[in-house]
Amino acid sequence: MTTWPTRVRGLAWGADYNPEQWPEDVWSEDVELMRRAGVNLVSVAIFSWALLEVEEGRYEFGWLDRVLDRLHEGGIWVDLATATAAPPPWLTTAYPEVLPETADGVRLSHGSRQSYCPSSPVYRAKAVALARALAERYREHPALAAWHVNNEYGCHVSRCYCDRCAVAFRAWLRARHGTLDALNDAWGTAFWSQHYTSWEQILPPRATPTSHNPGQLLDFDRFSSDALLELFKAERDVLRELTPDVPVTTNFMAAGFSGLDYWKWAAEVDFVSNDHYTRGEDDERHIDLAYSADLVRGLAGGRPWLLMEHSTSAVNWQPRNIAKLPGELRRNSYAHLARGADGTLFFQWRQSRAGSERYHSAMVPHAGPDTKVYREVEQVGAEYGRLAELVGSTVAAEVAVVFDWESWWALSQPNHPTGDFAYPAHVFAHYRALWRAGVTVDFVPPGADLSRYRLVVVPALYAVDDATPYEEYVAGGGHLLVTYLSGVTDTRGHVHLGGYPGAFRELLGVRTEEFHPLRADQVVALDDGSTAAVWTEHLHADGAKVLASYTDGPLPGVPAVTRNERGDGVAWYVACGLVGDGLARLLRTAVEQAGVPLGPGGDVEVVRRRGEVAGSAVSWLVAVNHGSRDAKLPVTGVELLSGARVPGGVVVPAGGVVVIREEEV
Ligand code: GAL
Repeated sequence: MTTWPTRVRGLAWGADYNPEQWPEDVWSEDVELMRRAGVNLVSVAIFSWALLEVEEGRYEFGWLDRVLDRLHEGGIWVDLATATAAPPPWLTTAYPEVLPETADGVRLSHGSRQSYCPSSPVYRAKAVALARALAERYREHPALAAWHVNNEYGCHVSRCYCDRCAVAFRAWLRARHGTLDALNDAWGTAFWSQHYTSWEQILPPRATPTSHNPGQLLDFDRFSSDALLELFKAERDVLRELTPDVPVTTNFMAAGFSGLDYWKWAAEVDFVSNDHYTRGEDDERHIDLAYSADLVRGLAGGRPWLLMEHSTSAVNWQPRNIAKLPGELRRNSYAHLARGADGTLFFQWRQSRAGSERYHSAMVPHAGPDTKVYREVEQVGAEYGRLAELVGSTVAAEVAVVFDWESWWALSQPNHPTGDFAYPAHVFAHYRALWRAGVTVDFVPPGADLSRYRLVVVPALYAVDDATPYEEYVAGGGHLLVTYLSGVTDTRGHVHLGGYPGAFRELLGVRTEEFHPLRADQVVALDDGSTAAVWTEHLHADGAKVLASYTDGPLPGVPAVTRNERGDGVAWYVACGLVGDGLARLLRTAVEQAGVPLGPGGDVEVVRRRGEVAGSAVSWLVAVNHGSRDAKLPVTGVELLSGARVPGGVVVPAGGVVVIREEEV
């Protein structure tokens, strides 16, 4: 099995390419402009189903043959889509049961994209048939470098509540729970007279008078992620059968998307690819980008990954679609590269003239190549050509953050102690503090082997059956920092009794008797000068040392932050929603005590990649300056973009980028 599109030489650079939106004479100019811009990989045919299978079973591949041939003549590799992300109108008209249904029973229509139900046997059969037809047609095509199955599974429809999904959900539940008794127990159906006496009574969580059963919601989230994963696997298996040497991927939306448990998905792709879009109005969008990139590297198990989509400038789906500043496209590309991407592609190659994405930026804008965007595209394309030696190198971090889609799902349910808590924002707040301290982090799944990390941050790991991996990590000398809303329930959603934070209570040496969430906008003070919002709890130290207590709010004098020494290790507990400087200070202290060096921090992002050149170990520093002042980096080596040797340090220009092959001094 191949785990990377190795046919592509060097770093991958390119875009989604949608030639079907253009007359053929534009295609020649496309290839010419791609060559000028150093493009070497494009994703083709993602939304082409209606033009490839023009009526049921009648395929028309002629136009795609010509596209692939031209790209090959131009030396450009193809990440060929299976084209199954947007079923054509003929299909949903002939088989309306393919269409998905909302929790309110509304059947969604065709006329946009992704109008299919994950459990529809018709959709699955037609999608797999199209994937097979494409693989049979193009298996020997010399441009084929990778397969791109579907597109952003679940992006618009990650949950379907139709009758077919009800049947599939029951089958999934039988496989998970075995018996109805076990299901009744797991869901706690003694509550509100929900006891089931036959499988047929069980429904997806459709519109109900008031709140659903939490176990039902959590299992439906798991089921829905698995149902889409089964669809992916059905297409992937056909591709693997026909083209075993061509790696298969599907593009994730890791950082902001709760619909799929990407830890499970990542195990099924040959290589991980991801889409990330910054929010133009977010002043910290470069930190959000870094967060996404580190999470994706975690999904890739530390191996190189591909940024399948980002934007050259504005998108078209935010409230205000802000154009990128000069140099921002370049900084964004390098920031992904720094964090382990071996290629950065865009949505899309040529800006559409028609359709709902016509105001979304592209590598070739409406105004043509004589533009800031295309010039920057050409610049980075040329630079990437000088960076081929980085391919295959990896990023090593000494700090890990545990990320859990199941806790995200569980904490997104209604009827929790506060509606002001949001799992991704909570994880991001901790990530941001580490980023600002210049610390590179890995993201790991719950239960991962933590032994190679000096510090592990566990933000709101809510649904935990048992804390053994974390106990072993601390016993072995690890430093663990756990935040509130961790360990509260098991993975069925049942609360661990005896005091919070349940599964972590003993390890942390604390016991909470009651949660005290704060009022909207309430801020409480701690005696170490920190402040907290959103959350406090009535905590007792039970062996742990108290580092800070509240001086006001509902719990004056009660511990808020504790530290427990166990074996050779340390376990911190943060029982409140620390904000701003307080959170930054705490994380810096934890990092320092764990013996991890702080980076330059501030606006300059510096990440080290390690690999080999001609059999010798080599390291590179990729530095991106997001600020408005030049910065000096103390490093010796060769700056690869200019080719200059930098014996006594290098200047990272304001808004600029450097890549240095380091030399030992
Ligand atoms: C992605 C999608 C692309 C395009 C892009 C626009 O979510 O995969 O097809 O729609 O967004 O930003």
